[in-house]
Amino acid sequence: MRRNLLLGNWKQNTTRASALELLGGLKAELEKSPTKTELGVIPPALFIDLAIGQQYTSCFAVGIQNISKTVKGAFTGEIGADMAASAGVKYALVGHSERRAYFNESPEDLAGKLMRCLENNLIPVYCVGEELSDRKTGNYLNVIDAQIKAVLFGLNTKDLNNIIVAYEPIWAIGTGETASAEQAQEVHAFIRNLLANKFGASGSDISILYGGSCKPSNSEELFSQPDIDGGLIGAAALNAQDFIAIANSF
Ligand code: 13P
Repeated sequence: MRRNLLLGNWKQNTTRASALELLGGLKAELEKSPTKTELGVIPPALFIDLAIGQQYTSCFAVGIQNISKTVKGAFTGEIGADMAASAGVKYALVGHSERRAYFNESPEDLAGKLMRCLENNLIPVYCVGEELSDRKTGNYLNVIDAQIKAVLFGLNTKDLNNIIVAYEPIWAIGTGETASAEQAQEVHAFIRNLLANKFGASGSDISILYGGSCKPSNSEELFSQPDIDGGLIGAAALNAQDFIAIANSF
């Protein structure tokens, strides 16, 4: 269901001590400047339990950065969707460009991860985004089209009600270079249209988040676009003040 949402992807950052400090900082910031925006933090898996502590349940939901494509068994190092769900996790990132690029995750892998999430009532956040070369040659909408079709078009219409999409242009991730509001809006509208044509109302009613150097200075303009429903924040999510300032810019 379409709604405003802000997720903070901490990536491979924080230690137990700094994770606790950041969680406490977020709670303190929220007490100073409460927000109506639904929030989620996505810490390293080891620290998920800290974020699910009772003192935070009214502040934010918790996500996981990666999930196994398999159900269970002898897959050393993997975390199953059933495990995450039983630990109180709500969201799972699927298809983040860093996982696609550095861990060779294929569309088949991502389809498996997505299914495991849906079977266990985790909300998958399916990430798509083009490389700088595709942006420069004007091929970017074809890339997005292929990424959406390869993984989401195999779903049932009712599954669409339980997923979120994130558009994260790779050239904007961690580079300080943000997509302009117009660039982001064009792709968000393209994705919504693609999903609406395939899935009807369930497709058009999906939440689509923007990610890529989103920060307090540009979030308001991005979130004012008609097809941008929120953000998937990297670096700025490691700073409690910045993250809550972004949450208050809807
Ligand atoms: P940055 O906000 O650091 O560019 O990262 C975005 C991102 O990859 C979130 O998943």
